[in-house]
Formats: sequence, structure tokens, C-alpha cells
Amino acid sequence: MSINILFAAQADRWTQYEAHLRRALDETGLDYAIDTEMPPEEVDYIVYAPNSDVQDFRPYTRLKAVLNLWAGVEGITGNETLTVPLTRMVDKEGLTQGMVEWVTGHVLRHHLGMDAHIVNPDHAWDKTIPPLASERVVTILGLGALGSAVAGMLRHLGFTLRGWARSQKALDGVACHAGEDGLDAALSGAEIVVLLLPDTSDTRDVINARTLALLAPGAVIVNPGRGPLIDEADLIAALDSGQLSHATLDVFRTEPLPQDHPFWAHPKVTVTPHIASETRPPSASRVIAENIRRSEAGEPLLYVVDRDAGY
Ligand SMILES: NC(=O)c1ccc[n+]([C@@H]2O[C@H](COP(=O)([O-])OP(=O)(O)OC[C@H]3O[C@@H](n4cnc5c(N)ncnc54)[C@H](OP(=O)(O)O)[C@@H]3O)[C@@H](O)[C@H]2O)c1
Repeated sequence: MSINILFAAQADRWTQYEAHLRRALDETGLDYAIDTEMPPEEVDYIVYAPNSDVQDFRPYTRLKAVLNLWAGVEGITGNETLTVPLTRMVDKEGLTQGMVEWVTGHVLRHHLGMDAHIVNPDHAWDKTIPPLASERVVTILGLGALGSAVAGMLRHLGFTLRGWARSQKALDGVACHAGEDGLDAALSGAEIVVLLLPDTSDTRDVINARTLALLAPGAVIVNPGRGPLIDEADLIAALDSGQLSHATLDVFRTEPLPQDHPFWAHPKVTVTPHIASETRPPSASRVIAENIRRSEAGEPLLYVVDRDAGY
């Protein structure tokens, strides 16, 4: 029997994804139909973005799984009408690679002090030599699909690395810390902190006045994770006092960042418009098709969300 797949994301996404999804699904050998509209009671799988019109899953009576196109799932984990397995996107070739590149670029910018030479109106001949990566302590909060890949690249460059996750990790060349008790050890004396945590009730405001005070004076925050990880007022106070020298922020509590938000005009803040990384249709489509193949074959799904943990 043919399986029915509903694509429920914003309209322009269908244009980007349709051919790639069809190609990846064809390769599974499954008999399928995929479209942006079909009777709810006939749908087996939903390829999903949390900003789609589908918010009530109750009419989807034969639904087997919801396959999220995004890595972040905070927009759906609380949806009580969803009672079937939910998977999140781990797209190693696209999303993960893009994040590795974005974080590496921004970490190197701050590590090497590039700004002083890119904007140098006084033509200062300042021969301050940057330290080597091995002399720079970088802490990554979140060692999941993205954080561990970023750690791998920064390790390759030679940085002195620390990491923090909910469960204890063992990564070559990374001093790994875990749980509430491990946070202070991960942050104490850190010079560059990269946030790659999900937005959950446990991670909200993890960067606050107390944790900012643990960092090395003049530290830098790089946040491609989620806006609510940072207490904004505490961040601005730390930038103004000099405890932080810069914050590079890609994600915000409200997006687009409102025009009158103080981050836009702050001289020590770089705003990027949630472009750190994105799911790429060719590789993400293969991940979606593989999960549908697994489900139909009775094999365990990849990247299932723990709804209780919220990620
Ligand atoms: N800006 C962008 O363009 C962009 C793009 C994609 C994703 N993102 C963001 O990046 C986040 C991470 O993505 P991912 O794929 O790497 O997620 P992931 O694989 O689920 O990894 C999340 C990591 O955070 C850790 N964690 C969760 N709760 C914690 C807590 N309470 N205390 C300590 N550590 C905790 C997890 O610990 P365990 O390993 O022990 O579970 C895991 O290491 C996403 O949730 C999303 O918000 C942003």
C-alpha cells in the first residue's frame, strides 16, 4: 500500500524541497505520495516545520511520525496534540557543516583580533601579536550534533577546549563537564564561549550575571544556539563593564530583532540574522527519506526527540 507524506512547512520551502525529497524517496524504493495538502486521516508521515499551519495533530489519525526539518524543536515539544514520535534534523553534510564554518569564522575573528585591522581609521601600526590557538581557552556549551562537530574543528586548529552537556561526554582533546555541577568548571576562566544548547526550561538564561562573572575578563560570547539562553540585561551590563569584550549573536528572543533593540547599536555586539546555519534540501531530504524507510522497515528512527527533556 502506498504511504502518504504531508509536507507541512512554509510555501517557499516546498519549491526548494520537492525535487530533492522525491529523489531521496525514490531511492528508498517505497511506494509513496507526497504533497502539501491531503486529507488528514490519510496521512502517514508529516515532514514538518514548527512555523507551518499544522498545529493540531488530532485529525491525523493514522500518523506514524513527524519528521522535523529543523534542529531546534522548542516550537513543537510542548504540543500535547502530538502523540507519535517526533524526530529533529541532524543534517551532517549541510546544517552541521554550515555551523562548523560559521562558528570557526567567528571564533577566529575574535581570537586573532581581526577587527582592529579591518576598521583602523587612525592607521595605527599596532604590532600586538595574537596568541596561538593552544593559548586560548574556548568553551562550548552543548556537545550534541552541532557542538561536538564544532569541537572537532576547533580542536583541529589547536584551541584549548572545554565542553559542557547534560550527560558526561568523552571527546578527544576536550575537557568535558556535565550537569549543573560541571557548568562553573566549564566556564571559569574561559575566553571565548560558544552556545550550542537547545532552548529548554533548564537552559534558559544559562548566561547570566553569575556565570558571566566566571569568565576571563574581556571574554567573548558567540551565540548561534537560541536567544533565551542569554539574560539580555546581564549581557549588556557585562559588555558595558568590560567583563565581556564582545558578543556575536545570531539568535534572539524576538526574531527579526526589533529595530529599536539595544543590540543593533551596541558597539560591542555583532548581530547576524539567524543565518549561522540552515538545513540544506539535498542532504536533509536524504535524512527524511532514511527515517521513513526505517519506520516502514520496523527499524528504530534516527534523532528521536525526548519530549520530556525538551530536545
Ligand atoms: N542559529 C542557527 O542557525 C541554528 C541552526 C541549527 C540549530 N541551532 C540551535 O542549536 C541547538 C543545538 O543543536 P544540536 O543539533 O547540536 O542539538 P543536540 O544534538 O540535541 O545537542 C544538544 C546539546 O545540548 C546539551 N544539553 C541540553 N540540555 C542541557 C542542559 N540542561 N545542561 C547541559 N547540557 C544540555 C545536550 O546534552 P546531552 O548530549 O547530554 O543530551 C547536547 O549535548 C538547537 O537546539 C538549535 O537551537 C541553531
